[in-house]
Amino acid sequence: MTIQWFPGHMAKARRQVQEKLKLIDVVVELADARIPNSSRNPMIDEIVSTKPRLMLLNKADLADDRKTNEWIQHFENKGIKTLAIDAQSGTNLKQIILSCQELVHEKWERMRAKGLNPRAIRVLIIGIPNVGKSTLINKLAKRNIAKTGDRPGVTTAQQWIKVGKELELLDTPGILWPKFEDELVGLRLATTGAIKDTIINLQDVAVFALRFLTDNYPDALKKRYDLQEIPEDIVELFDAIGKKRGCLMGGGLIDYDKTSELILRELRSGKLGKLTFETPSDWNNE
Ligand code: G4P
Repeated sequence: MTIQWFPGHMAKARRQVQEKLKLIDVVVELADARIPNSSRNPMIDEIVSTKPRLMLLNKADLADDRKTNEWIQHFENKGIKTLAIDAQSGTNLKQIILSCQELVHEKWERMRAKGLNPRAIRVLIIGIPNVGKSTLINKLAKRNIAKTGDRPGVTTAQQWIKVGKELELLDTPGILWPKFEDELVGLRLATTGAIKDTIINLQDVAVFALRFLTDNYPDALKKRYDLQEIPEDIVELFDAIGKKRGCLMGGGLIDYDKTSELILRELRSGKLGKLTFETPSDWNNE
């Protein structure tokens, strides 16, 4: 992630989102389906409390389907309409439009009762960096309008992007910060690639990922790295993977940075299968 979030930046980002909220009917919040809670802004409920909200668990193509369903149930139980999507390939886009229509149905009916003709539903897409906001806007707009990348502080005139006759999207998404202060959250964000590896030591992230895989997805780990058994000792596990993949330094020593990079790159691109790094019950226990 390119932004360093200081308290001043956070206040400014929040103000910018609040300004945009005035213009819109529905907030579409994006979270990462692999870490649905860690990838949310800690103050999101408070910030968007006045608007109908749709929750999208994005990158569902990379997440564990069973756990994605648990998360959908979890958010729905809290009264938040939730869908799993894959913005990159564009699954469930029609469903997003239908859900937004459902969310404004009563308000639109009241307008009709007063003899007013309801307009297109105005939508703001919101979420932490790298969660897929620009990808989704581009997919919905069917052309490359939204710039990929994050530039808080850049103010431009608001533009609306038409999505069929039903929706109008604000062309710039709302960008909010994740919960940095929690170490476990930071490790999950780094594991999935939401925050750049420079913030947290690469090897620490890989150790966290390998321990998580050993405990939760041992078969995927064994299969990918052709391991008969998973060594209990974390250094031995690194050695086994590094050796198998030729991540070596001079003298045949294992290059732990290279090994860490390889593991995280493969995990993030789905080579270890569909993985989810937290469940609703983890959050109840943590
Ligand atoms: P943002 O606007 O919220 O900051 O996120 P953006 O759309 O730029 O997406 C961040 C990365 O996530 C992009 O990869 C994008 O292709 C990927 N992505 C978005 N939606 C999905 C999805 O549903 N499934 C998968 N598998 N990937 C998705 P990138 O440009 O390669 O960036 P990076 O991976 O190098 O960070």
